[in-house]
Amino acid sequence: MLWTVLFALLLLLILQAQLCVCLRELRASTASALALPPPPPPSSQATTTATNGTVQRLPGAIIIGVRKGGTRALLEMLNLHPDVEVAKAEVHYFNLDENYQRGLDWYRAQMPFTLPGQLTVEKTPGYFAAPLAPERACQMNPAVRLLLIVRDPAERLVSDYTQVLHNRLQRHKPYQPLEELLLLDDDINGGGNDRHTRRIDPGYKALQRSLYHVHFQRWLEHFPREQIHVVDGEALVRDPYPELRKAELFLELPPRIRPSNFYFNATKGFYCLVSAGHDKCLDESKGRPHAPLSQRAFRKLCRFLREHNKRFFDLVGRTFRWC
Ligand code: A3P
Repeated sequence: MLWTVLFALLLLLILQAQLCVCLRELRASTASALALPPPPPPSSQATTTATNGTVQRLPGAIIIGVRKGGTRALLEMLNLHPDVEVAKAEVHYFNLDENYQRGLDWYRAQMPFTLPGQLTVEKTPGYFAAPLAPERACQMNPAVRLLLIVRDPAERLVSDYTQVLHNRLQRHKPYQPLEELLLLDDDINGGGNDRHTRRIDPGYKALQRSLYHVHFQRWLEHFPREQIHVVDGEALVRDPYPELRKAELFLELPPRIRPSNFYFNATKGFYCLVSAGHDKCLDESKGRPHAPLSQRAFRKLCRFLREHNKRFFDLVGRTFRWC
């Protein structure tokens, strides 16, 4: 009997020791995963070669934002150019740690196959406001050309909210009206029973993304101003061709995009694209009706943004007619 008890105790001690080792190992691996080591270096400049001699290359130009600024329209329109090939899906390499950790070979593998002399372009609007994206993009290639398409930041915010709202509705998730997210209740008299005023909540995420100067400043810390081409999103909606011509010049592409590549589609209410006899409009998530916001709240938003917009104008060296 005594021997059985002693044997059981011994077994218990061994098991406990093993458990400690396992826990220590688990803690160590979690800590190193959180420390985010640098991504693996690219294996070489070599790329996957397809049978027709095309290869995947790192982008020579990136559309970095702004979210809801018209980034898809700009990408599809640039794709009309025979010397341009685009990554169809957003890659999210410089803004998402889990993708960045996969390294440059992974990034390159997301790119389209191109012939020598063709320009690879990707668009990920999430790059613009991502704190680490400018430094990482610069590390990849300090000569990469950047395109930033901007639109009235107040309209952009409403469009941003509308997109989130649609996603939540699709997934049957609850949502808050925009005004609740955008405006904070202030109790003027402190007592709680008198006058209330409502002010803009500067912490609202979609508003933060509309403070263009904050994010643009970060990009300027890593890239010279002339390496970032700013596209006027409202002008692109009104008449795409002149904006595309300017983009061709910036990208040093021969002029191949023509006014006849665009036609106004009255049903869609936007320009659509024509290429090789096929026409194509952007999907219904682009150009959909915006979620409601009272005129009063919209005016407050415009007032709030005025000073921020001015700072952005100073940085880019031009002005826009925003609210
Ligand atoms: P709205 O849906 O608010 O109108 P992004 O591609 O960056 O998400 O931007 C979406 C916006 O692209 C749309 O915002 C729309 O205004 C704009 N856009 C610009 N040109 C367009 C076009 N030819 N067709 C559809 N939307 C276009």
